[in-house]
Amino acid sequence: MRIAIMSAMSEEIDMLLQELGPDAEMHSRGMRDYYVGELAGHEVVLVFSRWGKVAAAATATHLITEFGVKRLLFSGAAGALAPDLKVGDIVVGTELLQHDIDARPLFKEFETPLLGLSRFPADPDLRRLLTRSAIDFVKEDLESSVPASVRARFGLEAPSIRQGVIVSGDRFISSHADSQSLRDRIPDALCVEMEGAAVAQTCFEYGVDFAIMRVISDSADDTAHIDFVTFIDEVARNYAHGVMLRALAEL
Ligand code: ADE
Repeated sequence: MRIAIMSAMSEEIDMLLQELGPDAEMHSRGMRDYYVGELAGHEVVLVFSRWGKVAAAATATHLITEFGVKRLLFSGAAGALAPDLKVGDIVVGTELLQHDIDARPLFKEFETPLLGLSRFPADPDLRRLLTRSAIDFVKEDLESSVPASVRARFGLEAPSIRQGVIVSGDRFISSHADSQSLRDRIPDALCVEMEGAAVAQTCFEYGVDFAIMRVISDSADDTAHIDFVTFIDEVARNYAHGVMLRALAEL
């Protein structure tokens, strides 16, 4: 049963590519490169989602309709909304919601028109698998995956792993006013990113099981953009790579 490993970080896909078996094939379609090969004994398709909800939904649709994937694991970075989350923590989504969908008065705020849903649940088994893999990664592999100097620079001490609501929208949230507005409107949201709920909706519509993990890269406020690129390169891609390999090995 083919599994999709989709990431909003091209850097993570580059790392996973190194581990694909020798018979791996690349298929370029719609400005995306899909790599089909074997990883930890599974047939997988690796792909960079690109950024934003439309891009992610298009990539997920292609994975499902053209490559026949039956399960999808997705990773990336996110801005923290819950006050106790810090840079380097990991969030695994229980439910995904689009914070910028609003067809009132035809439908309730956040409701996806014609589906009667505002929250798309992740598959419980896959999300528990990602959560266990993240816990084990932090306990056993973090020190070897991220050099001490980098951990010190980003203040990565004992990262915590949380499960909860992830919200997505076509905006990089980089002001306190915007993140506070999200907290007020969606009090149980843990973090914000730009793709997860679009992937979740696509999987829901096609009946494909999915789970999503996000590494907290910033606090979705006025400094959100500052360390974003270096954080992805030096920290987040190592986390996601390590967690995905552990998850595949356990599946
Ligand atoms: N991904 C990582 N940080 C983010 C932020 N602050 N807003 C939206 N997406 C993000």
